[in-house]
Amino acid sequence: MEPIEDIDVLSEDEVRQREAGAGSTEDENLDRMKHGYDEAAGGKQVYIETYGCQMNVADSGVVASVLQESGYGLTQDQDEADVVLLNTCAIRENAEQKIRTRLGMLRAEKEKREGELMMGVLGCMAERLREKLLEQEDLVDVVVGPDAYRDLPRLLYEADATGQAAVNVELSKQETYQDIQPVRYDSNGVSAYVSIMRGCDNMCTFCVVPFTRGREESRSVTTILSEVSQLVEEGYKEVTLLGQNVNSYHYTDDGTSVSFAELVDRVSRVSPELRVRYSTSHPKDCTDELLQVHHERPNVCNYIHLPVQHGNTEVLDRMRRTYTREEYLALTERAKELCPGVSLSTDIIAGFCGETEEQHQDTLSLMEEVRYDHAYMFKYSERPQTYAARKLEDDVPEDVKQRRLEEIIELQNQHSKESNESEIGRVHTVLVEGTSKKSDEQLFGRTDTNKGVVFDREDYEQGDYVKVRIDDCTSSTLLGTAIEKTTLEEAARTDSITMAPAVA
Ligand code: SAH
Ligand code: SF4
Ligand code: F3S
Repeated sequence: MEPIEDIDVLSEDEVRQREAGAGSTEDENLDRMKHGYDEAAGGKQVYIETYGCQMNVADSGVVASVLQESGYGLTQDQDEADVVLLNTCAIRENAEQKIRTRLGMLRAEKEKREGELMMGVLGCMAERLREKLLEQEDLVDVVVGPDAYRDLPRLLYEADATGQAAVNVELSKQETYQDIQPVRYDSNGVSAYVSIMRGCDNMCTFCVVPFTRGREESRSVTTILSEVSQLVEEGYKEVTLLGQNVNSYHYTDDGTSVSFAELVDRVSRVSPELRVRYSTSHPKDCTDELLQVHHERPNVCNYIHLPVQHGNTEVLDRMRRTYTREEYLALTERAKELCPGVSLSTDIIAGFCGETEEQHQDTLSLMEEVRYDHAYMFKYSERPQTYAARKLEDDVPEDVKQRRLEEIIELQNQHSKESNESEIGRVHTVLVEGTSKKSDEQLFGRTDTNKGVVFDREDYEQGDYVKVRIDDCTSSTLLGTAIEKTTLEEAARTDSITMAPAVA
């Protein structure tokens, strides 16, 4: 397949301009829905494949909901589908490459079915490449950006009726899909993502997200709480509040401004049996108020994903992360002080523009200081139109990037293993998510600190909280023995009794 050229993407100014006037109003969209697109759906089956981050998983739920409302059926089996939608990611070159390969496979499938199959590209890659996708992937029927999902029924109708591709990649400052109750398309029925904001205003110099998702916009507190309540009613036991930079969440409800810390507190009060997590928090505005909520609310998990990206202040400055190494380290110290036993994870980029060997060593030494329980580690990948692509030189040779990445991964594996080994003998409250991948006889769940645990099934079930004693581990998983079923309230009580003598 021909590679798609990296051209025709938006500049920072263009993103802002387009958002100012872009997007359809909800009324217009409702109107469109009533225009007979439902009939065009005619019970067609849609298969949605999701790539990229948790935000895309949440968005696929919105897409599923919009399409279901318009008369489409949803299928988990691609062979049954009349419409295949890829919800795509553009974060690194290899993420896009994966999707191009997939599009190639689907093109063959479409030819085999003599055009009966419709294909759509949604999400961040759709936003980035827009019409380019149509020119170069000539079998794509719809191209829909992350803020235009309400328009999908019309676009599918139009593509079907005209035989021409239909595109909507408008970004909207208003669109938060807040009134849409997402369909939990691919869910385990235990944990769910709840989107609390969209877009990102940070403009880190390496990152394409502000271009693919536009400006930051927070969703109303009321609609978030009602979605969470609904999930509790349906039996969900865990929610992860999602945004690119959740700490900058703010919403004014009834004249009162609600911060992210306040929102987490309110969500945690929806049910004492609901675990609350969130992702991703930017270190620049992770407040004491938020750390206090972790400490005070037993069902707010003792785990924070706090991406550092790099361990050297000069590189952090080039990345426009707006904090220094020292400030980041002080924050992790503060988190450990206010939330004893807190588990920290991170994202790290190896081989960013101009990175010297000493600067790379600073990343390793920062990892030694923080001792993350888990990390997502990447080689820097230049993304068109970002500040780094325009102004900085991607000058670290590929083999050096690779070697530095491997050193980072090796160190992290060692830390993860040591952290897991220190769990042996401890008892954790595990929320059972489902059957272990390796054996039907075993269950898989997570600790409050987000560590994966596998143990014998016995009579325990998905959605149970189970006290599990940790007996063994690998660098990625804890292996344990179930003691008894519990509740979060009960677990919080016994944990504080166990802690009491140490405090006294
Ligand atoms: N909003 C989140 C990150 C979202 S993207 C935050 O600021 O923490 C997820 C991760 O992808 C980033 O944390 C970063 O580590 C990585 N990433 C983003 N752009 C990248 C690029 N151009 N090359 C390599 N990794 C990148
Ligand atoms: Fe990208 Fe930075 Fe925004 Fe995260 S905070 S999405 S890395 S621009
Ligand atoms: Fe990828 Fe878009 Fe998420 S670029 S990481 S799917 S916000």
